[in-house]
Amino acid sequence: AAGYSPPMADTQVLVASNRGPVSFSLADDGALSMRRGGGGLVSALAELDGDILWVCATLSDADRTAARRATEGRLDVPGIGAVRMLDIPAGTFHRAYNAVANSTLWFVHHMLYDTPNKPLFDARSRRDWQSYEAYNAAFADALAQDAAPGSKVAVQDYHLTLVPTLLRERRPDVKITHFSHTPWAPPEYYRLLPDDIGNQVLEGILGADHAGFQTLRWAEAFLDCCAEILGADVDRAARTVTHQGHVTRVGVHGLGVDGDALRARAAEPDVTARAAALREQVGDRRLIVRIDRTELSKNIVRGLAAYRELLAKHPEWHGRVVHLAFAYPSRHDLPEYREYTAAVQRIAAEISDEFGDGTWDPLILQVNDDYPRSLAAYGLADVLLVNPIRDGMNLVAKEGPTLSKNGCALVLSDQAGAADEMSGDAIMVNPFDVSQTAEALHRALLMPADERAERRKRLAAVATALPPQRWFADQLAALG
Ligand code: G6P
Repeated sequence: AAGYSPPMADTQVLVASNRGPVSFSLADDGALSMRRGGGGLVSALAELDGDILWVCATLSDADRTAARRATEGRLDVPGIGAVRMLDIPAGTFHRAYNAVANSTLWFVHHMLYDTPNKPLFDARSRRDWQSYEAYNAAFADALAQDAAPGSKVAVQDYHLTLVPTLLRERRPDVKITHFSHTPWAPPEYYRLLPDDIGNQVLEGILGADHAGFQTLRWAEAFLDCCAEILGADVDRAARTVTHQGHVTRVGVHGLGVDGDALRARAAEPDVTARAAALREQVGDRRLIVRIDRTELSKNIVRGLAAYRELLAKHPEWHGRVVHLAFAYPSRHDLPEYREYTAAVQRIAAEISDEFGDGTWDPLILQVNDDYPRSLAAYGLADVLLVNPIRDGMNLVAKEGPTLSKNGCALVLSDQAGAADEMSGDAIMVNPFDVSQTAEALHRALLMPADERAERRKRLAAVATALPPQRWFADQLAALG
């Protein structure tokens, strides 16, 4: 507000995301321990010197305790800078994160609804929506308070679509970019959102000076929604949207991986030990690897069904191949995710029962959080299966070729954002076509070693073309 001069209005670059770079756990004696998260955004920002403030939500009671104990609300995180965790009431957070962001906006952009039953927008949905508004307003308030005059603010993802407009109202002097890590739904699907919600999301993002997307496909879907649903003035050639007198430029920034950092991490002893243990377990059999969050859009069940069809149609692989399916537990507050994880476990058990023979276990499914194990699996993979129903980018498709030691062949869904960059050297599949996916796995297993090595090299070059540091710098640069 006018005249208010907050003590912390000194930051030039601010980042806002739901999940922050660190999380806390609380010991019985009340001691807090901090754990740094992985992920592209954290490594991107670790490279930015100094003057950065990362605003994120408290995701647990331990986070809330840490936020309350922090001096002036700020935590110093070595290698990142200052982190401000917002102490959002648990109920508000639950409705904003679970009910709106993950059960509604995520489902829309990934086109996941089973429409005879869901979605359904009633009075309760409107209450959930009010929590989403309050949660977004809490971010806008914190950013408005902490940003130095003329700062650049980088807002991340579908959790925070209302922040650009709310922040512009509070601080017209700051420059705002919003980035969507997800796909964007085409207008005919987006329209299932009621006008009061759907329009507010579009208008929320249009408060930004720059709106970034992973691929041209998602950027164009956003432009289509702005034109067809909002009636905004869209210039497709210039990729700008003018709405209520404000211009938003739309940009495409396909996030890649940092090859050097990834290879250095994969050379550490915890990874090499897991690689040795896995090799011991599977012997010299060929390996088909997949790595996912336990996430509906990742299409794990159809992927396992394709592996089952491969084994049924091509018995020559019996005893000679093992499928490693490693999954990180995710969003288990939502019943759909718990049921999905159970469905994954069911089909995995069926495959092991049907084909396992006491000397050969065709499938190793593990559902837990083990990053070094994933890095080890990339190194050993002969084939990497990435078959999402829809995906903003999919970094597994980029990490795998970067770390593969065998020149792994990539089987890739044409609905992953990564397909736009990688289709030339991947074996492409329709994620709904289980038979086609099974044949693609067969072809990938048969691909000659030198061809696989050549393709891997080109895929790795694409994967590391825009590492997180440059991806982030490009977005700040787009703000002028
Ligand atoms: C996707 C989203 C991210 C999110 C991640 C993990 O990649 O784009 O914003 O952080 O999934 O989801 P979670 O709900 O665990 O934060």
